[in-house]
Amino acid sequence: MSAPTPTPGLLPAPVSLHPAAGSFPLADGTPVRTDPALVAAARWWRRVTEDAFGLDLPFTVSPAGPSSGGTSLPDAAAPAGVTLALDAARPAGGYRLEVTPESVLLTAADAAGAHAGVQTLRQLAGPQAYRAAPVAGVPADAAQLPALTIEDHPRFGWRGVLLDVARHFLPTREVLRFVDLAAAHKLNVVQLHLTDDQGWRMQVHRYPLLTEVGGWRTESNVGTWRTGVFDGRPHGGFYSQDDLREIVAYARERGVVVVPEIDAPGHVEAAVAAYPFLGTRKAPHAVRTTWGVSTEVLDPSDEALEFFTNVLDEVLDVFDSPWIAIGGDEVPTTLWRENPAIVARAEERGLADVADLAGWFLARLSEHVTAKGRRAVVWDEGFGEQLPRDVVVTAWRGFTVGADALEAGNDVVMAPEQVVYLDHRAGDGEDEPVPVGFLRTVEDVYAFDPFPPEVLAQYPGLDAAPGRLLGAQAEVWSEHLDSPRRVDYAAFPRLAAFAEVVWSPTAERAPGGSASAEFLARLGHDHLPRLDAAGVEYRPLDGPKPWQQRPGVHGFLRHLDQEMAAGGWAGVGGWVEGRDEHSEGQA
Ligand code: ACM
Repeated sequence: MSAPTPTPGLLPAPVSLHPAAGSFPLADGTPVRTDPALVAAARWWRRVTEDAFGLDLPFTVSPAGPSSGGTSLPDAAAPAGVTLALDAARPAGGYRLEVTPESVLLTAADAAGAHAGVQTLRQLAGPQAYRAAPVAGVPADAAQLPALTIEDHPRFGWRGVLLDVARHFLPTREVLRFVDLAAAHKLNVVQLHLTDDQGWRMQVHRYPLLTEVGGWRTESNVGTWRTGVFDGRPHGGFYSQDDLREIVAYARERGVVVVPEIDAPGHVEAAVAAYPFLGTRKAPHAVRTTWGVSTEVLDPSDEALEFFTNVLDEVLDVFDSPWIAIGGDEVPTTLWRENPAIVARAEERGLADVADLAGWFLARLSEHVTAKGRRAVVWDEGFGEQLPRDVVVTAWRGFTVGADALEAGNDVVMAPEQVVYLDHRAGDGEDEPVPVGFLRTVEDVYAFDPFPPEVLAQYPGLDAAPGRLLGAQAEVWSEHLDSPRRVDYAAFPRLAAFAEVVWSPTAERAPGGSASAEFLARLGHDHLPRLDAAGVEYRPLDGPKPWQQRPGVHGFLRHLDQEMAAGGWAGVGGWVEGRDEHSEGQA
């Protein structure tokens, strides 16, 4: 840890920071003035200062200066107090922050930039700013903001994290807390994985059995499914549409878009349990209690398509996200091939192979989403000839499929499980709780590049590819995360490393290990105290605390080098259908 920790240790690191002399005292009566377009960020900042420091900041909504062409900068010097102004010259999603002993001027071209800027203000105000109430003994100058100038903008527009609330339900308050923590790291997308084999979590008025039946299971696997251990305890829960609207609104106030995910035509056993006509066997069925990939996929019938279209209409009503995720991952075709009616249907639809029914189903759902003015998002198995080009592809199986999708003209979000599946083990010690998946340390995640130059060089066609790399997404799958405490442990601090990857432009990062050492120093010195103050039960850098361990609960270690040698990751990309190791830890 030789590199000096930069003051004040922001995370993610800003593009540029120039310290100046002195500081700005936040105090009772400090005026806050905001442009109407940035009011949500300003209101959030006022709430934070009220909660954490007990301050009462008078609030004015009006442009700081003459408004024209998306700019409302003050005429002359920044007014005393805190000012949020529009400046069309700022990059999209970015901000400029100028703190002097007299004033704080935050300028942004858009609301997203203002949200990022107020998160920086919070970090500048110190760990106390992450508490819910003032602490006796906090010195009176605790709300001092150091004088400085910051210019900052994001590397990627899609800085996502998936939260799996299907495998283990999290109450609404915990989802809100997770959204808060995502925003605190300048992440702007939370993909809510609402449905899977083991549970359906969204209330759908038209089909109440989805949650009445599909919202709970009799028991759960404990650890890897290979050992066949179950807890004998029912698990369940679902979100009412009002709960979900609350989550959406709460996220919006923090600059976060909640992308709902309804997974189809695989990962549907909970829906099939509720409405057996959806399945291939049309027989009574239980919500799945084991992890792993299920062969019980939808019968890709016109009735199932109508059902899921109706479900999506309620999703579109509740969620205002421009993107709607419709799943598409891991669709074993075993039961389709065994079913003459389904084989015949594939032929009737002019499909070359019965497996193409998955693409057919996804294409129809995505057309419906597009017709409603949104864009569908699919996992990369859904990419293929049938997929409309306006669908976003989330590449989780590696670079090849991401590159193929970009070359075909689809926009892509990189989420390779080799690096950014945060349910995978963070350490290789005996004490690591439920150690599944690949070993991925905080340093590994920090070294992640959604498309590293040496990989890009393998895909020369990408230079002219019509698709856009929107960004990247980390995934918090929850088979082995059965409580908010376990989610905290898996997600943090690796999500902080991921946040810096997707926010801070690479050009600003030192090459190789030195960046990692500097990052670790800044993480330990400046950022973990923020997480402590926020009550996040992260994984300590030197390993789990005794009560974070799960002795006796077995995981399953995967070796990337062996899987690549065996062809499982052809060009860091292919998937061998039916390879059951694949399912451990995430699917
Ligand atoms: C996935 O991990 N099945 C997207």
